[in-house]
Amino acid sequence: MLVGPPGTGKTLAANVSARELGFPLVSVDTGAVATGGATYLKRLLTRVEACAPILLYFDELDKLFTANTISGEESGSQQILGTLLTWLQDKRSAVFVVATLNRLDALPPELTRVGRFDEIFYVGFPTAIERKQIITLHASRFDQRYHCVDSPLSEAQWRILLGKTVNCTGAELARMVEKAARKLFHQSLPIQIGLHELLVEREAMVPLYVRDTDRILAIENRARYVAQPAAIEDTSIYAPLITTFWGEI
Ligand SMILES: Nc1ncnc2c1ncn2[C@@H]1O[C@H](COP(=O)(O)OP(=O)(O)OP(=O)(O)O)[C@@H](O)[C@H]1O
Ligand SMILES: [Mg+2]
Repeated sequence: MLVGPPGTGKTLAANVSARELGFPLVSVDTGAVATGGATYLKRLLTRVEACAPILLYFDELDKLFTANTISGEESGSQQILGTLLTWLQDKRSAVFVVATLNRLDALPPELTRVGRFDEIFYVGFPTAIERKQIITLHASRFDQRYHCVDSPLSEAQWRILLGKTVNCTGAELARMVEKAARKLFHQSLPIQIGLHELLVEREAMVPLYVRDTDRILAIENRARYVAQPAAIEDTSIYAPLITTFWGEI
């Protein structure tokens, strides 16, 4: 189970998992399950099992339960939950289940209880080195120089850019790079994405974290107790120094 704010790469991680495992990915339409109810889900699970090995992907799992509660169809949602829990516990076939969602508090506690999903990961905002990797990955789609070991940006330039992109999601970084490339293309300039182009796009964007700080912090705080971080600690030269109120330590 992957939990975290929108645009941090959860859906991408599910797709990459399927590719790494070499399993086909079947994406469940949570809306159809919510409407079709437990009967629909049971039929779907039987069919999926027949196709094993397979990666079964529940995108936005929270929608399955929030939608039903709002429309007052508690019993339908309870039956779906029951079917899913029983299947998760009893299944013997090679079905690798990945579920993604934004808010853990929208889920019934039975689903996050130990033993249902093997692991619950919190996919949060990328660390400095991860931001560098994400920007490099997307920039290399447009600008060949980012494929080279020697980055087109100097260490000092990276420090400036990474400092300006704290709390930007992977999706926002991808979009920033894409817009910089598109602008160069429309100006009929060679697509060489430099610090200036990236900073212009960064300034033009208001990250989700800034727009919706309270909701994001609520997502983070709730996940902290139940999930483990998906990222490893940043020990690179770009990791921010730990600072205290009295200065650096
Ligand atoms: N960690 C990452 N590395 C590279 N690209 C990323 C990363 N995170 C996000 N992106 C880019 O942003 C796009 C959108 O990310 P994705 O759909 O996986 O986010 P999400 O966490 O599933 O969001 P939501 O909660 O809204 O469903 C990806 O297709 C990819 O281009
Ligand atoms: Mg997603």
